[in-house]
Amino acid sequence: MKFSISSKLNKASIKNVEAFFLPVWVEKERYQYDDAVSVLDAADQKLVKNFLKEREPKAGEVHLIRLNKKPGFVFLSVEKEFNGKKLTLLARKYIRTAKKQGFKEVGIYIDDLADDDLAKTEIAGLFVRNSLLAHYDFSEEFKAAPKDGWKRVQNLTIFSDHDEKELRATVKENEIIAEGVNRCRTLSNYPPVKMTPEGLAEAARDVANECRPAKGGASSIKVTVFDEKKLYSEGMNAILAVGGGSDNPPRLVIMEYKGGQDGDQPLAIVGKGITFDSGGLNIKPGEYMSDMHMDMSGGSATIYAVAAIAKLKLPINVIGFIPAAENMPSGKSYRQNDIITAYGGKTMEIGNTDAEGRVVMADAIEYAKTKKPALLMTIATLTGAAMVALGTRWSGLFVKDNKDLRAALESIGETSGDAVWPLPLTEQNEKEVEGIFADVTNTHKSNSRYGGASSAAGFLSQFAGDQTFAHLDMAPRMTTNPEEEALSCGAAGFGVAYFVELAKHWETIRSTL
Ligand code: BES
Ligand code: ZN
Ligand code: ZN
Repeated sequence: MKFSISSKLNKASIKNVEAFFLPVWVEKERYQYDDAVSVLDAADQKLVKNFLKEREPKAGEVHLIRLNKKPGFVFLSVEKEFNGKKLTLLARKYIRTAKKQGFKEVGIYIDDLADDDLAKTEIAGLFVRNSLLAHYDFSEEFKAAPKDGWKRVQNLTIFSDHDEKELRATVKENEIIAEGVNRCRTLSNYPPVKMTPEGLAEAARDVANECRPAKGGASSIKVTVFDEKKLYSEGMNAILAVGGGSDNPPRLVIMEYKGGQDGDQPLAIVGKGITFDSGGLNIKPGEYMSDMHMDMSGGSATIYAVAAIAKLKLPINVIGFIPAAENMPSGKSYRQNDIITAYGGKTMEIGNTDAEGRVVMADAIEYAKTKKPALLMTIATLTGAAMVALGTRWSGLFVKDNKDLRAALESIGETSGDAVWPLPLTEQNEKEVEGIFADVTNTHKSNSRYGGASSAAGFLSQFAGDQTFAHLDMAPRMTTNPEEEALSCGAAGFGVAYFVELAKHWETIRSTL
């Protein structure tokens, strides 16, 4: 799907689109139209006005109205006010409706929607981003295409008298982010037979290849992949333990982007890359095992976040670490009561092989620390407990004892659209994962299931030690809420937009550390 910009909204240009987004403001049953109405054919203008008079739609309603002349349809949206949140959802509904109808060319006039709180560029950006997110449908990847192909909206024309260069920059930026989110969704959605630990490494290499300068030369992203031999020689026994049960050997994928100065301390992102979580020897019952091909969603978010940050050429140093393994039962699996020495020497005992995410992340966190990051963040589909606590709208945010950092990371969630909600992480949570025979245990030491998201965070925090650290448990946001969010079902792509936003506000974040 492409986007064009036009400053010429008139009776002639409106004929080039098949549908037009038409906002209508309602206040005490009085309707106020967008200026754009005036470019419709006179009889069609009447038709729209009659529709409002007769149907008296309430705030929140959307209607696709057929016109007699071109553009042919208006997507009428009635609201008291159009804020960013509402427009996000409306943009998605508009595009989904257009796609379903088979429209190829659609339009929107943004200038009347703008006010002091919402700039024209923001509106253009959110329409671009959400059009792409709403257009995405993973079911088109494997299903046989219908006879005349999948329906595709080919172009959205954004009508505005705003500076075209600025609008173009916004379009480009949001295209990069949305493309990253959608590719993250695809990688997470891929079946586990296709998306193995080496598959994750391949995805990282592919996207790094796209970051080569036009004339050739080195990519702005350096990818390093530790295979099982290297993992062994480095002493990354935790990743090896979890990966041991599978025929698809584990990997540690590292992606480095240097957009900042040489000496600038990087942002480190550690993303859980479990390509299938059967639970291992503590095998999951069937209904809990379904969707566990997406247990690498933190890893895929890391890959496409680093890529988007590089493509946007943001002035920051970032390193992504993706410990990748498949958690399977076999004669070579790690076991309950195994004691494993992680990279760096800390030992852990295994209380449950299904708490594997924190195990692989231990090696990666310890290794990430050797790069001296200013902030180390983890992102993982870590616990079902986070979903029990939060439902499916927010990821859990864990910051031990820095209120300013916590608030800043919460607000990144607000502005990026990847919402987060703080959950407890204290010294007590670190204590509750102290081991009996080893330094730590990967389950609660008295086997309590209460506050499971916090004890998991406590385990990660044990490995982070003195390193400035924050954790996102994205299990709640692993998949979309299709109806509520007006997105297709499957992986949500949580995290890509979050880390891009964080990178954009890196200076603010740094000031809280
Ligand atoms: N990958 C799961 C957590 C999960 C569950 C993510 C549902 C997304 C949706 C994780 O590895 C796991 O199995 N965690 C266990 C931990 C327990 C054994 C301590 C859990 O949450 O039950
Ligand atoms: Zn598990
Ligand atoms: Zn898992």
